[in-house]
Amino acid sequence: MASPPRRCVCPGSFDPVTHGHLDVVVRAARIFDEVVVAVLHNPAKRGTFPVGQRLELVEESLPDQVRDQVTVAAFADRLLVDVCREVGAGAIVKGLRGGTDFAYELPMARMNTHLTGVETVFLPADPSLEHVSSSLVKEVHRYGGDVTGLVPDGVLRALRSLTP
Ligand code: PNS
Repeated sequence: MASPPRRCVCPGSFDPVTHGHLDVVVRAARIFDEVVVAVLHNPAKRGTFPVGQRLELVEESLPDQVRDQVTVAAFADRLLVDVCREVGAGAIVKGLRGGTDFAYELPMARMNTHLTGVETVFLPADPSLEHVSSSLVKEVHRYGGDVTGLVPDGVLRALRSLTP
């Protein structure tokens, strides 16, 4: 029997990283030997944060206990399955906050398996983080709401330094 994949990819836009993302990365590192956090982006689309800053924010926010297992890298204009091939990952790990995420993620997971055989492992989001997404965090912050505790301190500082 083939041995299970020892390296996985946690993909996303990470614009910016949240505690929800970090929870999934930490839990993925308990299952896999190595985790590649893949910041996927389309150079034609301007995100809120430049890709270099997104990478820095993920790097600096990783808890010490997973630092040796996790690498963070950016990939532009690429299929996720090609990223997996490039880094030698046999699995994709994603968090699911609820049914809407599942409906969105399921066809992508099936398509990715269809394309190269790569499997997707879904981790149920921590209930305390189910309401956390990069887009909601940005919207709440933009209109003066407090997002303390939902994102790492570096992201809080980065959000505060955004020009309105
Ligand atoms: O954080 P997001 O925006 O939910 O991440 C979505 C992402 C980047 C993981 C997804 O859009 C993706 O996998 N993009 C890479 C392009 C690709 O492979 N598309 C086909 C998916 S079946």
